[in-house]
Amino acid sequence: MTERVMTMPGADASPARPGEVVLSIRNLSKQYGKRLAVDNLSLDVKRGEIFGFLGPNGAGKTTTIRMVLGLIAPTGGSVDILGKDITFYRSEILPRVGALVETPALYLYLSGRDNLRAVGSALGGVPRSRIDDVLELVGLQNRQKDRVRTYSLGMKQRLGVAIALLQDPDVLVLDEPANGLDPAGIVEMRDLMHQLSAAGKTVFISSHLLPEVQQICTKVAIINLGKLVTESTVEELTSAHGEFSVTLERAQEALALVQAQNWGREARLSAQGALITPAPGNRGRELNLFLVQAGYAPDTISQATQDLEEVFLRLTNGGTGGVQ
Ligand SMILES: Nc1ncnc2c1ncn2[C@@H]1O[C@H](COP(=O)(O)OP(=O)(O)OP(=O)(O)O)[C@@H](O)[C@H]1O
Ligand SMILES: [Mg+2]
Repeated sequence: MTERVMTMPGADASPARPGEVVLSIRNLSKQYGKRLAVDNLSLDVKRGEIFGFLGPNGAGKTTTIRMVLGLIAPTGGSVDILGKDITFYRSEILPRVGALVETPALYLYLSGRDNLRAVGSALGGVPRSRIDDVLELVGLQNRQKDRVRTYSLGMKQRLGVAIALLQDPDVLVLDEPANGLDPAGIVEMRDLMHQLSAAGKTVFISSHLLPEVQQICTKVAIINLGKLVTESTVEELTSAHGEFSVTLERAQEALALVQAQNWGREARLSAQGALITPAPGNRGRELNLFLVQAGYAPDTISQATQDLEEVFLRLTNGGTGGVQ
């Protein structure tokens, strides 16, 4: 499925306000026959956020993004972008939204630059300098004259992002932009997202590549079977509440001692041999004191964190909950 969103430019940009909600999804639903692909979903994305929209295959990410862009109509609820309902103000809003839904629709026999020019003229004309800028931003200036047929998948994805950026949108909605990229391509895409965020863009990005989201996004929402499972900062989601990670000598002995305490029954060793444990009174300093007094002076103590992948698998029943 390939799509590109195009409308004529024309809407005036309103002044940016930090913390302003730029994308608001309210009780959004989409029913396909008997299947509820998106089920009463609500989310707020604020200006400048890189918001990760996560879920297993079939969870409803692309369906949500299509509704966000006004490509398909919801069966319930609404989407506001920059304070306006997409259903009623689509042609006004879309010039301020850059979109890449699944793989970009490109003319393979044209060069990268000519693809941008073609889209630019369909948009009513984009200055040459803007084409130079977006080529530079996505790192394709050296290959701009080559036919897209000769591009790697990663280069095609980057050209797709360049197209999404042509009108210098405030908001970018990217469905799986790192899809099919090799590790080097993923790193490039990540750098690009950071650059866009530094330039004040709001980015809404769907992905099932959890390590990526962990590195790129400030906030994430996880959906499964069309429903919101959780919405949180990456930090909140990955901090294992109240547990500490301690590196120390004779960890096995220290573990046995800690497990014998009322507060330490859940203690265990990590794969790397660190002691993962709650603390007496939930305080790191109490844990430190206890270990020191018992003769197990820690080398380091830090808040234990969970991998986003573990969190995701737990919250989505092994990541397969979306297969219906
Ligand atoms: N046009 C359609 N007609 C009927 N069912 C559809 C249609 N589009 C999507 N679905 C169903 O809606 C559900 C959500 O699909 P969607 O493509 O939104 O998932 P996704 O989260 O984007 O998955 P993936 O990670 O595989 O891209 C799936 O069960 C899918 O089969
Ligand atoms: Mg999808």
